[in-house]
Amino acid sequence: MDKRYFSDKVVEWYESNKRDLPWRQTRDPYKIWLSEVILQQTRVAQGLPYYHRFIERFPNVAALAAASEQDVLRLWQGLGYYTRARNLHRCAREVVHNFNSQFPADFQSLKKLRGVGEYTAAAIASFCYNEKVAVVDGNVFRVLARSFGVDLEISSPEGKRSFTKLANDLISNERPDLHNQALMEFGALFCTPRNPDCQRCVFLQSCFAAQKGLQHLLPVKAKAKTSRRRYFYYFVLKHGNSLLMGKRGARDIWEGLYDFFLIEKDRPAELKKLLQQFNESSCSNINVEEPEISAEYRHVLTHQIIFSRFIVVEDIQGFGLSDRTLKFYSAKKIAALPKPVLISRFLEDHRLL
Ligand code: ADE
Repeated sequence: MDKRYFSDKVVEWYESNKRDLPWRQTRDPYKIWLSEVILQQTRVAQGLPYYHRFIERFPNVAALAAASEQDVLRLWQGLGYYTRARNLHRCAREVVHNFNSQFPADFQSLKKLRGVGEYTAAAIASFCYNEKVAVVDGNVFRVLARSFGVDLEISSPEGKRSFTKLANDLISNERPDLHNQALMEFGALFCTPRNPDCQRCVFLQSCFAAQKGLQHLLPVKAKAKTSRRRYFYYFVLKHGNSLLMGKRGARDIWEGLYDFFLIEKDRPAELKKLLQQFNESSCSNINVEEPEISAEYRHVLTHQIIFSRFIVVEDIQGFGLSDRTLKFYSAKKIAALPKPVLISRFLEDHRLL
């Protein structure tokens, strides 16, 4: 397919089909950066309320940099992959301290910022400064793989190199910003993963996949890794209206978020055994017949499934956990803490929040 034709057509399609989204009304790199970081984590419909909350609370990069990490994590709550939120916060501080609160204005310098990879740097450089650099995300992979019949696996180094080169060969000289937005939007709305409406597509005659009936086989994706199954047994210790909670450490999911005393197993465990283990590790003496265990909460992450149950324990005597990071927090304090969605679901279900 002729490259100029491809870019012109996709931009033409975009002009009459694009969604009206708040980050499309601006060239402020702070807003573009924020929207792209959120949209790497979720779809537009779910990302929009987060975007509005962040902009309202932190209208510029200096405001975000001045926030505590805890407040940023709390606002990010529900989006998952909290390292992204921590990097967002660190990047804001880097821009304020090292760049006088001005985002760098070119692709190469942007890429050096904390948490800013090729994708985000290309989005900021092209949308804000019209730099001629292609944005390559999952939508773009799909459109290019189908239109041009690229059958390389998208996550392989060779695939990435090849798709990025093709995307950069195709990009419009005059309006790289429009071209990139158009290609992403076309992938998101029209050239969808399942059941694309090829008969109505502007590229029907020239699309490799549509002509050969290969839409469902392109792009080529690696087999999904099987998920690790983890069994979390949470002990929810109550003292009046307060609950015992602690901040999770590094090197596991949910770093910096708050949860309860946890016993983790790699297979389902019996309540009696769990209570014995709890008693041993906390020098306490819960009557093993007493507490009830909740129904199972299933929480699915990218490469893990967490099967979780909660054991609520009221005012126990002689309790002495060696883990000094755990403290009692009032319901009001708990509301403001950043927590995994799993924990918020439990608290809401049990009217503890
Ligand atoms: N997904 C990722 N970036 C996007 C953008 N700028 N507009 C719409 N969807 C997107």
